[in-house]
Amino acid sequence: MTPTWTPDSWRAKEARHVPTDYPDMAALAAVEQTLRGMPPLVFAGEARRLKSLLGDVAAGKAFLLQGGDCAESFKEFAADNIRDTFRLILQMAVVLTFAGGKPVVKVGRMAGQFAKPRSSTVETLNEVTLPSYRGDIINGMEFTAEARTPDPQRLIQAYSQSASTLNLLRAFAGGGYADLYNIHRWTLGFVNDSPQGARYHELSEKISEALTFMAAIGVTPESQPDLHRVEFFTAHEALLLGFEEAMTRVDSTSGEWYDTSAHMVWIGERTRQLDGAHVEYFRGIRNPIGVKCGPTLEPDDLLRLIDVLNPSNEPGRLTLYGRFGHDKIAGRLPALLDATKKDGRKLVWAIDPMHGNTLTANNGYKTRPFDRILSEVKSFVEICKAQGVHPGGVHLEMTGQNVTECLGGARALTEGDLADRYHTHCDPRLNGEQALELAFLVAEKLKEDRVAEAVRAAV
Ligand code: TRP
Ligand code: MN
Repeated sequence: MTPTWTPDSWRAKEARHVPTDYPDMAALAAVEQTLRGMPPLVFAGEARRLKSLLGDVAAGKAFLLQGGDCAESFKEFAADNIRDTFRLILQMAVVLTFAGGKPVVKVGRMAGQFAKPRSSTVETLNEVTLPSYRGDIINGMEFTAEARTPDPQRLIQAYSQSASTLNLLRAFAGGGYADLYNIHRWTLGFVNDSPQGARYHELSEKISEALTFMAAIGVTPESQPDLHRVEFFTAHEALLLGFEEAMTRVDSTSGEWYDTSAHMVWIGERTRQLDGAHVEYFRGIRNPIGVKCGPTLEPDDLLRLIDVLNPSNEPGRLTLYGRFGHDKIAGRLPALLDATKKDGRKLVWAIDPMHGNTLTANNGYKTRPFDRILSEVKSFVEICKAQGVHPGGVHLEMTGQNVTECLGGARALTEGDLADRYHTHCDPRLNGEQALELAFLVAEKLKEDRVAEAVRAAV
């Protein structure tokens, strides 16, 4: 029999990457108590809606687009940043919907993505050793003893920033900004004069033409409100379990537990131990959830993890994100796909082409070569197709800002360019141009699929 689950049953297990070095643990407990009294950020019904849309993805009828900062920060919190990432997601969604001929489920890695697992608990610089930076919800990035000391008040600030971010995202999604008639206005300034900008412009012309035709036959935003708005969801890695526990509430309509800090949450590659605290916490919440699957995951372990996280085989409940690296995916993914397929597991298989492709440039910058990111995505789609599994989506670290963090792309960013605008608080992100280029590549792959389907249907 499975032991009883409670929102705090994870506390009896080993919680990797959850800090215990707060100077005053009682102060942390007091802040968690305060959070328990704060309103939920999302409603359980919205999480169920996302689960049902992901169920469509699992069935091969839709595609998942998930993206945002590696880590959100208090310092870069600004309306323009939120808008720019949101509109980049809209642009990519248009490209993917048009090519694939299937709905795109839009999920922001936003409004709560604050806690980071780190490979080392300490960082040494010029012979000074301090605790590592663990994300703005825990400590500060500045290399001083003061900033690096975990501060419970940061949980409150993260909650408040998540609430404002989500509020703006809801306003953009429903208030007219996402209206398909605005398709030309989403272009980011710096993307405008690039090959991707031109390609996007061409596509939006076609869509505008189609909209004019539809309006003529009576399909307008008034008759069809979906033209005027998008459903937009939020997600983050639920790493800091004390925070997530405080946001876990019983849904009054179903009587079930939901993590109300986001619509969807995922377990990171470093915290997916079967007997660990994160898996324990996740098994009890009813949100759609994700698990990152890296190169060390064996098929049997994956199946056991699924047994615990999705025992009733509910489609849309579980999304698996492969993150192997461009050179490892072909050696690791096929066996995992095979295991889940043979066993009839209903789930979404998506690709995170970012985390397996990180390297340190000669000048010390942590970066990711764009061609390796593209290559892992391509391999993902091809391997899925070869095995008859739906390539369900992509999970990206990206920003609408004109950063120089990943190498390559149409502008061929070099190691020397990285210093220009390297702003990330953690891992290197795709900029708008690179993200759009990737969307076009995925679009080509989806289109091949759609054409092949049409041919099969015709014969
Ligand atoms: N609501 C539809 C959808 O989400 C159509 C739509 C409206 C749309 N605005 C959009 C699609 C912006 C992509 C991007 O698919
Ligand atoms: Mn990251």
